[in-house]
Amino acid sequence: MSEAISYEDAWARIDKFDPPAIFDELRKGRPLARMVYPDGHVGWIATSHELVRQVLGDPRFSHDMQIGHCPVTIGGSPIPQFPAEPGMFIHMDPPDQARYRRLLTKEFTVRGVSQLAPAVEAVAAEQIAEMRAQGNTADFLETFAQPLILKVLAPLIGLDYSQRDRFAEAPAVTHDPSIDLQTLMDTMQPVVEFVHETLARKKSTPGDDIISRLIKTGELSDEELANFTLLLLFAGYETTEGALATGTFALLHHTEQLAALRGDLTKIDDAVEEILRYVTVNQYMIFRTALEDVELGGESVRKGETVTVSLPAANRDPAKFDCPAQLDLDPSSAGHPFVKINRTCSTGVKQSRTPGHRTVPGFRSAPVGPGRRSWFRQSRTSDLRSPGLDRDTTGHVAFGYGVHQCMGQNLARLVLRIGLRSLLDAFPDLRLAVPADEIPLRTKQNVFSVKSLPVSWQPLLPHAATATGSHRSGCSRRPNTRQARKPTSIRSS
Ligand code: HEM
Repeated sequence: MSEAISYEDAWARIDKFDPPAIFDELRKGRPLARMVYPDGHVGWIATSHELVRQVLGDPRFSHDMQIGHCPVTIGGSPIPQFPAEPGMFIHMDPPDQARYRRLLTKEFTVRGVSQLAPAVEAVAAEQIAEMRAQGNTADFLETFAQPLILKVLAPLIGLDYSQRDRFAEAPAVTHDPSIDLQTLMDTMQPVVEFVHETLARKKSTPGDDIISRLIKTGELSDEELANFTLLLLFAGYETTEGALATGTFALLHHTEQLAALRGDLTKIDDAVEEILRYVTVNQYMIFRTALEDVELGGESVRKGETVTVSLPAANRDPAKFDCPAQLDLDPSSAGHPFVKINRTCSTGVKQSRTPGHRTVPGFRSAPVGPGRRSWFRQSRTSDLRSPGLDRDTTGHVAFGYGVHQCMGQNLARLVLRIGLRSLLDAFPDLRLAVPADEIPLRTKQNVFSVKSLPVSWQPLLPHAATATGSHRSGCSRRPNTRQARKPTSIRSS
């Protein structure tokens, strides 16, 4: 058995955008490596895109916290194994998980969620007005990202936004590994009371919200209803806030990429996918436990052993994404559909791919088929100069994978798209108000984010354009003119 790493090595993030460097080392040599957990359990950690999806998609791996070993601590101590509470289906396996999840499916369809667009736009406009009211600078996290998601999510669930002081702090506190168990319980108790109060109110006066609709089904007990409510709040708030805040931070830091997006804001949907891949905020707490012996990545995972799957590591896997450490929103290098793009990543690894051939699940690389969304096809039939964003983000795992894949992803996408677009429309000179390395980070939280994000929108004097230490992409790409006449064959694997 090769040497085991400690959970602390996997938990040692220091960078504002990059996951711990150890993930790159592991992925190269031991994509499934032994890891010692806080409770002394010797389990595993998976860091390649392929293995992460394999574990999350395999019913022989369970999400049951009663048998799982948590890869993080709370208040410096291991998190004990515990049975899932009724309705807390994120910690259950099918068929129980599927039965509960089905009750919420229709709340989060693309169509249903798109009806929230006007409300999201209205809230974004309110928060932009609030930012302007503060002068030329504001904390983006507090003034835009947090209220945007909470003002949308709370009424959707059925929680009274005006009483947010009673519930809004809890998700961040409970996901903070530095707090002790007592603080956790003291934080949770009033939130649980508030939720039960809300349930009682909704029973007598139903509204147009998820809690009221769930009550109407008559299928859930009060305890289950309360846990559904907590799950939606805890899974939806901090994650979306974190993705919006860190995604905006990444955009404002990578000024070339920001300019590329500003050049064509109709590409916002693709940009959001790339931002989600790049920032992958769910950083530590995704793990599964083997229900039987499983052969995985050339290793034998024994029944009862826990495998932590690193979503940030999977989304930075060069076998899946070209130049994965680069935020890549720049359509300029993809402007010629018959040009093979050569890229030299800042890591020194040279990769190339041929536009018109993209990786699809299950294949290393394949021609784009009819009916698939394709910037290549668009570029041939419509506008050669604006073929879409360069990165193929298909298959990123920022929302997880398999039966537990994020229920709220359509809502998260809507909020990110409208939030970013409204912001860029409103503030042509938006930038970081302090150097990027001075932005305080929440590196130890299970959901990565910033502690604050001061931004400014005062029009810039020309010579001051680089004052906040903005960063140019390290991924140099140049068209290879010798390849320019016709598409080359499928990329070799
Ligand atoms: C950018 C924002 C978001 C990110 C990055 C994100 C990420 C994730 C991930 C990685 C999982 C899988 C967890 C696992 O496999 O252990 C998950 C599950 C889940 N998410 Fe999200 N999420 C986001 C927003 C939301 C929103 C807005 C909601 C709803 C209001 C939501 C509700 C859920 C629920 C209910 C689950 C559990 C699904 C199940 O176990 O079947 N999420 N999310």
